Amino acid sequence: MSLILGLESSCDETAVAVIDDRGATLETRVVAQRIASQDAAHRPYGGVVPEIAARAHVEMLAPMVAATLGDAGISLGAIDAIAATAGPGLIGGVMVGLVTGKALAMAAGKPLIAVNHLEGHALSPRLADPTLEYPYLLLLVSGGHCQVLEVRGLGQYRRLATTIDDALGEAFDKTAKILGLGYPGGPAVERLAREGDPRAVRLPRPLVGSGEPHFSFAGLKSAVLRAHQSGQYGAADLAASFQQAAIDCIVDRTRIALQAAGPVNALVIAGGVAANLALRCALQGLADNAGLRLVAPPPALCTDNAAMIGWAGAERFALGLVDPLDVAARPRWPLDADAAPVRGAGVKG
Ligand code: KG4
Ligand code: ZN
Repeated sequence: MSLILGLESSCDETAVAVIDDRGATLETRVVAQRIASQDAAHRPYGGVVPEIAARAHVEMLAPMVAATLGDAGISLGAIDAIAATAGPGLIGGVMVGLVTGKALAMAAGKPLIAVNHLEGHALSPRLADPTLEYPYLLLLVSGGHCQVLEVRGLGQYRRLATTIDDALGEAFDKTAKILGLGYPGGPAVERLAREGDPRAVRLPRPLVGSGEPHFSFAGLKSAVLRAHQSGQYGAADLAASFQQAAIDCIVDRTRIALQAAGPVNALVIAGGVAANLALRCALQGLADNAGLRLVAPPPALCTDNAAMIGWAGAERFALGLVDPLDVAARPRWPLDADAAPVRGAGVKG
């Protein structure tokens, strides 16, 4: 029964939200939220520049907290706890948000909750759909991550699959760069793909058919580059063929992960790439075949936002899980710390 202030600053969105966990619907749970995208500041560089991001968070965050509390019609004193992303992410930005959260917690005499950004994504479907119960199988697909996790309860994650090279969002962003679609790439590739033929370009489906459910996208990205350089194909056909190949990989790998999982209540997708409608549609087919419900938050709740951070904070706060004011920011912070490293995997969180 709490009002939580959520802060998010781990990448290129500065976001603040007020969450009321007594709400019975997404609309009543999110009392107020603001998101300031830094897309325009990073666009000239074709990707997120950490230093620019951290400075923008410094400038934006405090006024956005005031404005969001104003939108909610409350003062800081009415908040029960402050939840701030404490990692993983670009460390400069994470520190800005966490330090702001600490300062607000100290000023208001309220508890601080250090939220794992990935837990924010992982629980966002429960914010959107109050009927979603643990345990569920989660496909988490964002700019930095591509994982399948069995979510057994708050803080209880078993990683069943991960990528051995690129994340799915990274593959979309790199394809966008190859095709000259600019930054951010995922939505641009999805838009262009609607005008193309997904069978026009023969592209590989890395690891499809393998018994282990891991992902790989580096070879697919290189194949897109070679096909583009051959000059034989139009950009729309390349975008559509890439998207189809990536989706085929995701569906096949998630199907194998489902076989390795214990009993689950639903197949759930979250993270920025979960905003992709073609992917949601393909996963609906997989869920139907498995006799499971597919839960996908609205696209705006898939990309980075503070409502999911406030919600993860609310779930933690309800169990009395708060953090000391000297809690450290973490550039890497895996949800399943016990998961074994995978052959070929880099060091991503
Ligand atoms: O979760 P998110 O907002 O930030 C991270 O925590 O990484 O995810 C951003 C990623 C980017 O790679 C972006 O291109 C991708 O999600 N993305 C999409 C779509 N919308 C965002 N990829 C494909 N289709 C989309 N509609
Ligand atoms: Zn994210």
